[in-house]
Amino acid sequence: MGETSLPRDGSSVTGTILVADDQLPNRELMEELLTHQGFRVLTAPDGTEALHQLERAQIDLVILDVMMPHLNGFEVCEKIKANADTSLLPVILVTALSDRQDRIDGIKAGADDFLTRPVDSTQLIARVRSLLKLKQRTDELERAESVLFSLARSIEGKDPYTHGHCERLVQYSASLGAHLHLPEDQITALRRAGVVHDIGKIAVPDSILLKPGPLTPEEWQLVREHPVIGERICQPLKSFRLVRPIIRQHHEKFDGSGYPDGLRGEAISVTARVLQIVDVYDALTTIRPYKPAFSITDALQTMKQEVAKGWWDPAIFEEFEKLVRDGTAEFLSRGATAGK
Ligand SMILES: [Fe+2]
Repeated sequence: MGETSLPRDGSSVTGTILVADDQLPNRELMEELLTHQGFRVLTAPDGTEALHQLERAQIDLVILDVMMPHLNGFEVCEKIKANADTSLLPVILVTALSDRQDRIDGIKAGADDFLTRPVDSTQLIARVRSLLKLKQRTDELERAESVLFSLARSIEGKDPYTHGHCERLVQYSASLGAHLHLPEDQITALRRAGVVHDIGKIAVPDSILLKPGPLTPEEWQLVREHPVIGERICQPLKSFRLVRPIIRQHHEKFDGSGYPDGLRGEAISVTARVLQIVDVYDALTTIRPYKPAFSITDALQTMKQEVAKGWWDPAIFEEFEKLVRDGTAEFLSRGATAGK
């Protein structure tokens, strides 16, 4: 460890840093250096204790020594990255100088950065600051996303008949997307769209949304605006770039008879075509005010007729049918029973 009297650079980056190292002098030195820079520092003498601390405290960055008893740095890092609650937490691994294998193992474990011993204090502070800045941006984004998600769920919550619909769509569409070998970023977009695709309904009055009888043409007009409004709501979020076309296009039909743009065939994004299939399936297999819950066989039969009418993508429906029938995606049948 180098000198510990680095001046604070006046940057506004703050945060709580967890330092895990089995050597007390290393921990103390790192703690002194980081505290001097204005960070709050927690320490742990081994990997197991580090994981306990992560459960108990709000931590923004973790510095792990590689060689520790019980759980070593790689194992702790892997556990942090595998846990959905901590997967976005930046991790710096402290390895022996020029140990190439350690770096390879560290990258495999998902480490965000490395420091070599003896730790250079200037380098340490620079890396800590840049990772914490990144973490702050991720946190802001997460907050914005969670606002959207709770808004979407509050809309779903208004209607007792669509209870659990979003969650099922998230599962179904991700499963169908994976079955179709869609890239990971499109599957992530499908999961998000499963929750937020109807967010534009926020602009539709409850008296129309929950109306048990048929809608007037004017009321239909309002309902039909929800894909465009939903797309607009999600516009500012860059991370929703691949979600926006799904929101806008989820009521398009393969033959061009849908809304809002009357797109046809492959002009409708593949992710939107996937969401449509699972959306229809869920609506058919759960009870609604105007219909009972269909059995899986009846739902698939109805969808087949709709494919013949030109509404849904025949190739995607065929794959979806296989997925339901061969039972690999076991949960696909759960919605049907849950809705009864
Ligand atoms: Fe919709």
